[in-house]
Amino acid sequence: MKSVLSCIQPTGDMHLGNYFGAVKNWVDLQKDYKCYYGVVDYHAMTMPYDIKKLRNNTWELIFNLLAVGVKAENLFVQSLIPEHSELGWIFNCFCSYGQLTRMTQFKDKSSQVSESGSDKYISVGLLDYPVLQAADILIYRADYVPVGKDQEQHLELTRDIAGRFNHSVGKEYFVLPEGLYTETPKIRSTADPLRKMSKSAGEKHYISLFQDEARIRKQIKSAVTDAGDAVEGKMSEGVYNLFELLKISGGAQAHESLTHDYNAGNLKYSDLKAATADQLVLLTDQFKDQKSDVVKNKKDIKYQVKQSSAEIRKRAQETLREVKDLVGL
Ligand code: ADP
Ligand code: NA
Repeated sequence: MKSVLSCIQPTGDMHLGNYFGAVKNWVDLQKDYKCYYGVVDYHAMTMPYDIKKLRNNTWELIFNLLAVGVKAENLFVQSLIPEHSELGWIFNCFCSYGQLTRMTQFKDKSSQVSESGSDKYISVGLLDYPVLQAADILIYRADYVPVGKDQEQHLELTRDIAGRFNHSVGKEYFVLPEGLYTETPKIRSTADPLRKMSKSAGEKHYISLFQDEARIRKQIKSAVTDAGDAVEGKMSEGVYNLFELLKISGGAQAHESLTHDYNAGNLKYSDLKAATADQLVLLTDQFKDQKSDVVKNKKDIKYQVKQSSAEIRKRAQETLREVKDLVGL
């Protein structure tokens, strides 16, 4: 069976964008692949972060992942497998400094940090992040990495590191991982459909998977419908986003009949919003139920995920042993 590696940072709440754009794909991939899914807490340290919240966010994310259908045995916590950072260090020495400084995500993220003295600075970790990511991927010698456009450059770097490593040690040790391009929707903020749904933009710009029904309904009801033109036809970005949410949350039938209304020029936005909210409530109710089961068994779940991390760690240790030998350590 081919293997897949994917990671997610514990940065807090999980929203519809995270779910439809990434996590739902994780759930689906479990059917056909051996999956390694990492909650990457080392990565969460690369931007200014709250030390008091990190560990909690890590477990909260794990509870959320389990609630939406990710299997415990596929999950690991990155910092429970220190071999990631050890391989990352070795890869540092097989990665060109110039190439790292050219990563667009580094440019984006470093521009979000205004260097101002002792507590705000662009960390070396932020620059080095894609090297640790290369270690995350290659340590399990995964065949595929699901990638969105924003991660393509990092996967390319991973392939370059693997290639340079192989060349240096004179052996085709690492198989160059391939991107797994699955079509995932980009969900927009309902408050501002010109930007993507995102936590970093603030509360009104995302809809959490686990928030109460009233708040979901309120956010959909107040969704902006007249901003921008979506790519397809003349439909606005906001309306397109609602149609998209309706469809992917399981409302194919309502989607069809409301599209019909739209094309006939008599769609009432209030109908579209009501149908979308209904469908989202239906979907998220299920997640909330599963989440409440999960949090009832916090202790067991933590134990399980520590066990699965220990199991997955064996694979990482094997790779690291071979790598150290190959590089003369
Ligand atoms: P956030 O900080 O908003 O939670 P991240 O940037 O940490 O989002 O992304 C986590 C994952 O969720 C990534 O795989 C990303 O591509 C996906 N994702 C985030 N926001 C969206 C969105 N609005 N639409 C689709 N996918 C998204
Ligand atoms: Na973000």
